[in-house]
Amino acid sequence: MLNFEYKNPVKIIFGKETIPQIAKEIPDGKKVLLTYGGGSIKRNGIYGQVKKALENFEVVEFGGIEVNPHYETCLKAVDVIKKEGIDFLLAVGGGSVLDATKFMAAAVYFSGDDPWDILAKGAKIEKAMPLADIITLPATGSEMNGNSVITRAEIPQKLAFSSQLVMPRFSVLDPEVVFSLPGRQVANGVVDAFVHVMEQYLTYPVNSPIQDRFAESILLTLIEEGPKVLRNRSDYDAAANFMWSATMALNGLIAAGVPEDWATHQIGHELTALHGIDHARTLAVVLPGVMNIRRGQKKEKIIQYGQRIWGITEGSDDEIIDAAIAKTEGFFQSFGIPTTLPDYNVTADTISEIVARFKRQGKSIGETKEITPEIVKLILEDRL
Ligand code: NZQ
Ligand code: ZN
Repeated sequence: MLNFEYKNPVKIIFGKETIPQIAKEIPDGKKVLLTYGGGSIKRNGIYGQVKKALENFEVVEFGGIEVNPHYETCLKAVDVIKKEGIDFLLAVGGGSVLDATKFMAAAVYFSGDDPWDILAKGAKIEKAMPLADIITLPATGSEMNGNSVITRAEIPQKLAFSSQLVMPRFSVLDPEVVFSLPGRQVANGVVDAFVHVMEQYLTYPVNSPIQDRFAESILLTLIEEGPKVLRNRSDYDAAANFMWSATMALNGLIAAGVPEDWATHQIGHELTALHGIDHARTLAVVLPGVMNIRRGQKKEKIIQYGQRIWGITEGSDDEIIDAAIAKTEGFFQSFGIPTTLPDYNVTADTISEIVARFKRQGKSIGETKEITPEIVKLILEDRL
């Protein structure tokens, strides 16, 4: 096992009818900016519950945060925060709303010249405004991590930053939010959480059986519970298990002491930036390519995954790996998610563009930083 430090200060408030508890979690006297997305919270009753809970607070609203949240929108919110004298941020929505709110929390106190440097240059964040959330879509794990992914629409570039300072003070996880999710978002959520686990699991062995089994337990739970949620949105128990799996998939626990990959995500972000493809769908396309092209380097873990998750025990190493890739792709497709580039009308031109962007950044990725732009090309060509 590798050395590690692990600290996760996010208070989780989990369960039915927990939204009213925000009133006692936000310190008295705070002036709150309530951030939200395109309006789903107004249609499913969450907005009403939040407003009622906050009746004794001064609240300013900032709605309209888009999916794959825009840098430009975040800067507008920062102006509102400064003008209104806001001192607490409450995000109510999916990963996009949370991530945008984390960026606002950091950008409002940023002392450098250009807040884009937080994303583009990893500029240091010294202070952030306290934030909390009610997560309405199990998927990203943003409710229990310090990550944020922001898109600058004019370029277009989709980049991430990470800081302990933007971890939520508390996160409310009421599984009943799942009841109003469209099937597409359930599918996306299951696949995103699944791939988060894979990024932290499917690397190379470092004799870390407890992390491996934590990771495998999340994968198996998603395989069992995901289809139940898709079939019956009001199955509370399935919703609860799905929700907690998504949080556990990216709260740092399973990453402690093991190598991490994240190549699938970094390549996927390029597909979203250039083609607007849903985040999870980009992962469903790229991961099978990473598994195939990196089958040599990832051999031991892919075989372990094939055996323990899909029960594949027969065949040569390569046959087991082929079967594990096929099972993974089949799982994504069973949620109605297509897994090749032509399914999204993406052609070889886009591959050239993505490879050029990786070359410009001079960046190699993956658990051993061996995935060069040339290997990114092979991974994407595998998906044509
Ligand atoms: O905008 P509204 O109207 O709220 O509707 C949203 C949006 O259209 C809707 N929705 C959310 N909760 C709902 C609901 N509809 C009905 N009922 C509910 N309870 O779902 C749509 C998608 O929302 P979004 O927040 O974009 O989805 P998700 O949670 O999948 O977040 C995706 C974003 O998170 C980033 C992605 O890159 C993407 O930008 N990620 C963030 C990570 C992190 N912070 O750790 C890690 C991930 O790998 C990911 O990169
Ligand atoms: Zn993801």
